[in-house]
Amino acid sequence: MIDAITRVAPGFKPKVAVILGSGLGSFVEDVKQVAALPYADLPGFPLTTVGSHAGRLVLGHVGPTPIAVLQGRAHYYERGRADEMGGAIRAIADLGCETLVQTNAAGSLRLDMPPGSVMAISDHINFAGVNPLFGVGPGDSRFVDMVDAYDPALLKKLLAAARQANVTCHDGVYIFFSGPSFETPAEIRAARVLGADAVGMSTAPETILARHAGLKVVALSLMTNYAAGLVPGVLGHEQTLAVAGAASGNVRRLLRTFLEHYG
Ligand code: HPA
Repeated sequence: MIDAITRVAPGFKPKVAVILGSGLGSFVEDVKQVAALPYADLPGFPLTTVGSHAGRLVLGHVGPTPIAVLQGRAHYYERGRADEMGGAIRAIADLGCETLVQTNAAGSLRLDMPPGSVMAISDHINFAGVNPLFGVGPGDSRFVDMVDAYDPALLKKLLAAARQANVTCHDGVYIFFSGPSFETPAEIRAARVLGADAVGMSTAPETILARHAGLKVVALSLMTNYAAGLVPGVLGHEQTLAVAGAASGNVRRLLRTFLEHYG
C-alpha cells in the first residue's frame, strides 16, 4: 500500500503524522514540502466528502522533524464506517511514523473554554456504540489497551510547547458523538455529567486505530462553539469553519513549536 508514497519520496521516513481537522488545513503552509499526493492516488486512503477536508497527503519537514500530514479526514458519519481512516493510519505506521498528532474542531462543554480556545485531549469517551476494530481478527491484537491512549509524556510536551508558543492550552476529556446531526441539549447535559469537556464527531476512532497500529497519540481540539444548549443559539457547520479558520493561527503556532522540538 505504501509503494505509491515511497515512489514519490524515496528514502523519506516521517517520524510524526499529523491529521488536520476542519478549518485547520492551512497548517500545511508551515511544512517544508518534499511531496504531496491526493488521497485518490493512494490505495486504502479515504474519499472525503466534507468540503473543507482537502484529502491530501503532504510529506515534508517542520524544523528538523520529518512529518506526514493527512490534510483532511473521513468521518464515521460519512458512510457509517468507523474505520474510514484505517488504511491511512496503517500506511503512516508502515512508513515509520511513531506518533500521530490529531487536530479537530469541537464544541466546548465548559464556559471557561469559549469559542477559539484550544484544548489538549487527555482522554476520550466513546459511547457511540461503534468501534473501528469491529470485524478485525481473529486474534488478540484487537483487544487494544486504552489506558494512556493519549500519551502522557507527549501531552506534557504539548503543554510545554503551548507555553513556549504563548498559546493558552487547556486539557480535558473529548466525547465522540456519531454526528452528522449535532447533539441535543439533553445529550450535552448527560455528557457533562459523564465528565466530558469537549464534543466532536471524529478523533476517537482514529485514536483506537492508531493504538492498534502501535502509534503513540497526542491530540488537540479547537473549540468552535459552545456545545448545544450551553448558551442560547443554534449550531451549524459554517460556524465551525468560520471560527476554526479565524482561530487556527494558535493551533498552527502550537503545532509548529511542538514539532520543531519533537526530538
Ligand atoms: N458537536 C459536535 N461536533 C462539533 C461541534 C459540536 O458542537 N463543534 C464542532 N464539531
